[in-house]
Amino acid sequence: MEIYSLEYKIFCCIFDVIKTESMKNIIVFAGSNSKTSINKQLAVYASTLLESVSVTVLDLNDFPLPVFSVDIEREEGIPSLAQSFFNHIKNTDGIVLSLAEHNGAYATVFKNLFDWMSRIDGKVWQNKPMLLMATSPGARGGQSVLDIAKGRFPFNGGHIVATFSLPKFNDHFKSGAISDDALDALLKEAVDTLKNEL
Ligand SMILES: Cc1cc2nc3c(=O)[nH]c(=O)nc-3n(C[C@H](O)[C@H](O)[C@H](O)COP(=O)(O)O)c2cc1C
Repeated sequence: MEIYSLEYKIFCCIFDVIKTESMKNIIVFAGSNSKTSINKQLAVYASTLLESVSVTVLDLNDFPLPVFSVDIEREEGIPSLAQSFFNHIKNTDGIVLSLAEHNGAYATVFKNLFDWMSRIDGKVWQNKPMLLMATSPGARGGQSVLDIAKGRFPFNGGHIVATFSLPKFNDHFKSGAISDDALDALLKEAVDTLKNEL
């Protein structure tokens, strides 16, 4: 049975189009190439806390790049996949990034992408609001790499609006979510800050 008028249906249709067009987009990724990356799990969880936002999850495994070399750059130019990742940043309203920590610093795969993109434009992060995170199985939760990125990204167009570190991932993350209430509340605060900046 037809219960809605044609005018009402047209109104709903137009409203949906306006809503979709005005919906903010974010990209979500981990500074890791592990297929089971705990940082990717954290980043994806954080993105689920953002309501009414269109989420694109990126995986560095889909952007294989040669190890940065000034010779490759001179002889072959910048790899198209580095440009492609840079374009994802260009076209987004916000960034959720969680960095893996390897020996107190960036994982190689992330540093390599960062270096390649910095040759396109030093302002790699293009002033897009960023929620910057790190996690590890250890008690410091990737705090060292988080500190490095916090100090460096602003020189590369980074606009970090909130940070979060999850220590002891294996104790505090269960079934796709943070299991510790206090830590979860801290993440939700950080996510709200990002949402207000989009
Ligand atoms: C080469 C290597 C170095 C690591 N160094 C650190 C470290 O300095 N601090 C730390 O907390 N965890 C360290 N870890 C453990 C990582 O935090 C752990 O492998 C974590 O799962 C990495 O994040 P991902 O799963 O998102 O890749 C290291 C792991 C590897 C393989």
